[in-house]
Amino acid sequence: MEKTEKKQGTIWAVGGGKGGTGKSFITSSIGTCLALNGSKTLLLDADLGGANLHSFFGLLRPRYSLTDFFDKKVPLRDIIVHSGVANLELITGSITSLDSESINYAQKQKLFRQIRTLDADHIIIDLGAGTHINTLDTFLLADKMIVVTVPEVTAIENMYQFIKSVYFRKLKYIFKTYGLNASIQETWKNRSAYNIRSLKDLIVHLKQSSDHIRGIFDREMSGFVVNVILNQVRTPRDILVGENLKSVCMNFLGLPVVYAGYSRYDEAVQKSINNNEPFMLFNRLSPVVNEIKTLTVNLVAGTPISVPKDLVNGRLS
Ligand SMILES: Nc1ncnc2c1ncn2[C@@H]1O[C@H](COP(=O)(O)OP(=O)(O)O)[C@@H](O)[C@H]1O
Ligand SMILES: [Mg+2]
Repeated sequence: MEKTEKKQGTIWAVGGGKGGTGKSFITSSIGTCLALNGSKTLLLDADLGGANLHSFFGLLRPRYSLTDFFDKKVPLRDIIVHSGVANLELITGSITSLDSESINYAQKQKLFRQIRTLDADHIIIDLGAGTHINTLDTFLLADKMIVVTVPEVTAIENMYQFIKSVYFRKLKYIFKTYGLNASIQETWKNRSAYNIRSLKDLIVHLKQSSDHIRGIFDREMSGFVVNVILNQVRTPRDILVGENLKSVCMNFLGLPVVYAGYSRYDEAVQKSINNNEPFMLFNRLSPVVNEIKTLTVNLVAGTPISVPKDLVNGRLS
């Protein structure tokens, strides 16, 4: 029988549009950090097309995976495996050819229901690339939404598209749930009369035009904060990219973004994976370890990193 009561654990989701930016590395490292601090932590690999979170813990052939959940209907709590790190458990992704598109609505609802009942202080969901609605909906399930990017134009564009798609998905849900579609279409039709040129203007207009609508938005959007992490940073200038992203999301979408931190590029990351060693446990001398610790503290607290204003060109210290 399925349990339905909500446990108090925080659900985190790590997404961001582009593949290879370091979502799984960041998920595994944040998870290890939280677990080492004594929190019972559970990672869920929801990259259905390219599941590899287990590799970051040197688990070559995990005993169970989401395939057991989707194909054999085994409850989620029964496919949890140990990561090898104390306090840290893992639900590994499907090794078979499942992808986001092959999950139907009922399966998705069942997955979400069971995720909410998992017994852990923190449940961190590692997402695949792309903006499929199943990926967006899984991201929206989270109390803490995290996007990971590298400081390159194409990755940043993908990330912006991802954040925009998540926001649109959320708005669609709000419009439908509260029966606002008709009045929104009406306003949009007359947008020139109201001087509305963008979605951001439309939302501002709607909120100003009705206390009822403002109440709905304030309630539904109050926890909607996207946390940004920059990964594979190579220069001090790269670090500033996070600040720019924040302004772009606010200016174009009217969305609050918290720049939670960065992690530099370090070959030790790849070496750890090749050696089947969890990075955070075997690389105490790497600056990345402290950078991950800092960004984890920021993510828990919901606070931004304080970027020194006088960062200059050159090498990272
Ligand atoms: N900070 C980093 N320094 C060096 N290599 C990294 C770093 N972060 C990730 N990588 C490497 O990039 C590759 C992709 O990382 P991964 O976490 O699998 O990306 P994603 O989950 O976004 O597809 C991995 O081979 C990993 O070793
Ligand atoms: Mg990944």
